Amino acid sequence: MNTVKTVRELRAAVARARSEGKRIGFVPTMGNLHSGHAALVTKAAQRVDFVVASIFVNPLQFGAGEDLDKYPRTLAADQEKLLQAGCHLLFAPTVEEMYPDGMDGQTRVSVPQLSEGLCGASRPGHFEGVATVVSKLFNMVQPDLAVFGQKDFQQLAVIRALVHDLNMPIQIIGEPTVRAADGLALSSRNGYLSKEQRAIAPAIYRGLTQIAEAISQGERDYPKLLDEQKQVLEAAGFRPDYLEIRQARTLRPATAQDRDLVILVAAYLGATRLIDNLHLDLDA
Ligand code: PAF
Repeated sequence: MNTVKTVRELRAAVARARSEGKRIGFVPTMGNLHSGHAALVTKAAQRVDFVVASIFVNPLQFGAGEDLDKYPRTLAADQEKLLQAGCHLLFAPTVEEMYPDGMDGQTRVSVPQLSEGLCGASRPGHFEGVATVVSKLFNMVQPDLAVFGQKDFQQLAVIRALVHDLNMPIQIIGEPTVRAADGLALSSRNGYLSKEQRAIAPAIYRGLTQIAEAISQGERDYPKLLDEQKQVLEAAGFRPDYLEIRQARTLRPATAQDRDLVILVAAYLGATRLIDNLHLDLDA
């Protein structure tokens, strides 16, 4: 696996692969990789001949006071994991390479409606930063397909919408969330948790599964269900940011008649903000 740091080297390597008739898959990441990321690379490697991954901690998607500076940078370990997972080329640019003219005048991509509410409400500008960097990366790599984790459910919806709305010929694949044995969704941010917080953290997924079970058994009083689970989370030591039941496709608030649902949660444990979700298709 080769690592390149410039757009010029990236384009040359991808052009070489294309000239050999290879289909290109892409897995964008911010590094500090875990088995969830490896699963995305493995999925891409099953579908195409040449897998490109990127590692870039994108300042444009972090708000003031968020964890941009302390976000773990672990390039050597990440390279090893990517290699094992079947990646062929790693693009690991600097901030200057991605934003050579600075970020203030950078053209932005924004996806209205889907970016509003949920994480978009708590992290203003976050999805614009994600949509902008992903659009840039897509234009740099020009992959046939790209793989994203379903753990970032709203992000995946935003990316699907931007690809559709901007007519990008890229297939977007959502890969199921990889979980620890106790149910906690794997996340780079889990590394911020103390031992005590890590023991509490699986309650977030237990809450989602309990809501899903209640809905599957016919409960349709969503406000009651959500209030009860928020209290459970608070009692366990979380500070819930949001806990909501939405339509899975549009992310609009779910009604009792909707069948394709997603339950989404964001909650703080100390200073660490954890997110998770559970897709519940009542017709499946
Ligand atoms: O999910 C992430 O790791 C990031 O938001 C992404 C998609 C790589 C864009 O920076």
